[in-house]
Amino acid sequence: MSDMTSLVRVQDAGLSHDGGKNFIFRHVDLDIEEGQFVAVLGPSGVGKSTLLRVIMGLIAPTEGTTTLSTAREQTGSRRSALVFQDARLMPWRTVRGNVELGLEGLGLSRSERRQRAEEALELVKLSAEATRWPRQLSGGQRQRVGVARALTVNPDLLLMDEPFGALDAITRKSLQTELLAIWQKTKKTVLFVTHDIDEALLLADRIIVLAGKPASVRGDLRVGQRPRDPSSPGLRALAGRLRSLIAGEEDPGNTPYWQAAEI
Ligand SMILES: Nc1ncnc2c1ncn2[C@@H]1O[C@H](COP(=O)(O)OP(=O)(O)OP(=O)(O)O)[C@@H](O)[C@H]1O
Ligand SMILES: [Mg+2]
Repeated sequence: MSDMTSLVRVQDAGLSHDGGKNFIFRHVDLDIEEGQFVAVLGPSGVGKSTLLRVIMGLIAPTEGTTTLSTAREQTGSRRSALVFQDARLMPWRTVRGNVELGLEGLGLSRSERRQRAEEALELVKLSAEATRWPRQLSGGQRQRVGVARALTVNPDLLLMDEPFGALDAITRKSLQTELLAIWQKTKKTVLFVTHDIDEALLLADRIIVLAGKPASVRGDLRVGQRPRDPSSPGLRALAGRLRSLIAGEEDPGNTPYWQAAEI
């Protein structure tokens, strides 16, 4: 991987909330290329959300460094944007109002904000709901608003923290398909946290496994060709491997856990 295309660089990063007595994660190294769709997979409580916050620059690492190599914040765009598990919409704002919220403070006129919000809503197929209130939306529609709010600021890095975790299987599937289409259209670099192995296998170019206490990167696997069929034998085999990496069953002392698998 060349330095030229590395958008995110995490070097020997560690995070402790108690001055170094206990670490949530430690010795984390990670390079993310521009345009890549990277999934971060790991059990609940392992530190996935914390790692995202560190990469976004919301929390400083206790050890090591993280760098987001993007241009300075420009008019109308942000360096990164986050989609939460629960959409976190403002109930007193319409769908469009919620999307426009992300654009405040970016130096755009009211009509430019309106225009940009409309474009983002079109991407997530919510143009018809622009003047509705969050309470009038389904869970899937709310998540779409969350995705639109993040996309509208044209981020160099789109971070998604289990964005479809609370949805039913059918809605989740359709949002996954839509996200892939948006990713192919916008060429965004995506960092997508999930604890769902099949979701990671369906979406990502690359899957990072975070496990252990303190957590570290226990696997870094590349997944090839698209479109994907997670029920194919190759991906089933990879799923088994991911399961054992998450469970900590592959001893990194014996197995070269940095090994990349091409399927
Ligand atoms: N401010 C804090 N002070 C102390 N510990 C914290 C703080 N914030 C988070 N933690 C702890 O850090 C660990 C990692 O939390 P984090 O939310 O990053 O996990 P996660 O992998 O995102 O889990 P989930 O899949 O359930 O969302 C947890 O054990 C949590 O209790
Ligand atoms: Mg989390």
